[in-house]
Amino acid sequence: MSDPAPRRSPVDLARHAVRMTLSRGTRAAAAPVRAIARAGRDDTDPRWAGVSWLWQPGWGRHAHDRLYRTANPYGIDANPYEQQKYTSIMNTLAGRRYRRVLEIGCGEGHLSERLAGVTGELLGVDISADATARAAARVPSATFETRMLPAEMPAGTFDLIVCSDVLYYWEPTTLRTGLDRLIDHLEAGGVLLAYHYRGDFGQVNRADHVHDRLRALVAGGKVHGVVSERIDDLGPDGAGVRFDVVATAPVPSIPAQRPEVPVTV
Ligand SMILES: C[S@@+](CC[C@H](N)C(=O)[O-])C[C@H]1O[C@@H](n2cnc3c(N)ncnc32)[C@H](O)[C@@H]1O
Repeated sequence: MSDPAPRRSPVDLARHAVRMTLSRGTRAAAAPVRAIARAGRDDTDPRWAGVSWLWQPGWGRHAHDRLYRTANPYGIDANPYEQQKYTSIMNTLAGRRYRRVLEIGCGEGHLSERLAGVTGELLGVDISADATARAAARVPSATFETRMLPAEMPAGTFDLIVCSDVLYYWEPTTLRTGLDRLIDHLEAGGVLLAYHYRGDFGQVNRADHVHDRLRALVAGGKVHGVVSERIDDLGPDGAGVRFDVVATAPVPSIPAQRPEVPVTV
């Protein structure tokens, strides 16, 4: 995703450039420290994952908390990229009702509101307590919990796990163990849907790495590929998106040609 502000003034652009430089610098400087600290540890161990400045410099819990001090930091309702994303995701899920859904990085519940319509039980989780409190007010029928994933994975299995613009906050080793963990929490015929903006806004990982890893899991036979798309010229700076849906056997049917729903902003 996108930078929080859909339209940026010269001051915003300058601030963004400084943040990118600092973020990249911190990331590079922290890499050797991370490598030493990580040696022999489980990346999803909460004691380790909690040291977020080491594993996702610049984008740990505090950064997300800071963003959510103000409501709607991503300007979602007026942001065509977000609306298009929600439409694509919901088109893909159309025609099936899900028993128990986990939405990771649910933010203030904009996508949750739509997911609730196809779901028996929806659990939205986010690293920011302010975000989950607002999500709970927006979607009273769902449950929201403040959790940092993959370290604080909820118990039980799901027939749908949704990751919309969130997995690029997991650094590569965390992503590897984290994706395995998510798939282990899918029930038979369960679906993992991942949709990510391809741009670089200083986050610790990139959409291409996230989705290439998912494709590797398909190639390795851990899951089956259902949808795999790269859509160019979408999102800020036209950086595009990656969209993958994978499933455990028996693979559910998801139509290749999905109905187009107009984007309204
Ligand atoms: C870019 S926003 C996307 C929000 C929403 N998924 C959407 O597509 O509209 C990323 C969200 O992921 C949350 N987040 C980041 N890292 C997380 C983690 N390790 N565990 C849970 N939530 C996380 C952030 O607080 C933020 O709400």
